[in-house]
Amino acid sequence: MEKTFLMLKPDAVQRGLIGEIISRFEKKGFKLAALKLLQVDRGLAEEHYKEHKGKGFFEPTVQYIMSSPVVAMVWEGKNVVALAREMMGATNPANAGPGSIRGSYAMDISRNVIHGSDSVESAEREISLYFRPEEILTYQKPGEEWLSE
Ligand code: PPS
Repeated sequence: MEKTFLMLKPDAVQRGLIGEIISRFEKKGFKLAALKLLQVDRGLAEEHYKEHKGKGFFEPTVQYIMSSPVVAMVWEGKNVVALAREMMGATNPANAGPGSIRGSYAMDISRNVIHGSDSVESAEREISLYFRPEEILTYQKPGEEWLSE
């Protein structure tokens, strides 16, 4: 089953939005495969955002991600990579639809509450940065047959 990496950023943790945001993915029907609260260090932050090294927002983004604990998660489900990005809304909350997570809870691109992998390949890379293989769990939930054929 397809997997994605989602991270509730420091502002989501500090503002008490963890439950609200996780609840949206649970209600959609996705399955939580791994979750941890962690403090990101510089090495991990720079590795995560390495494709943006050299851009003006790189260092502020690294500082932001290190500024407080984050919630790192692996979610699985049909088309979860693309659908989670839809649920998150545009990277810049100013452009995010009102019903999306960023549209509902964020105002500024530098405080946009959630990260989600932008492709299956990115998801594999990001999952392996934050989780060891044995931390990603497989289990059954009742009612899964009602989510898709
Ligand atoms: S871009 O514009 O294609 O380089 O950006 P993108 O791949 O969508 O993600 C950039 C990540 O950096 C965070 N960030 C910013 N992006 C663009 N401009 C500004 N000013 C900026 N500040 C921070 C943005 O939230 C993306 O982080 P993630 O964690 O992927 O959401």
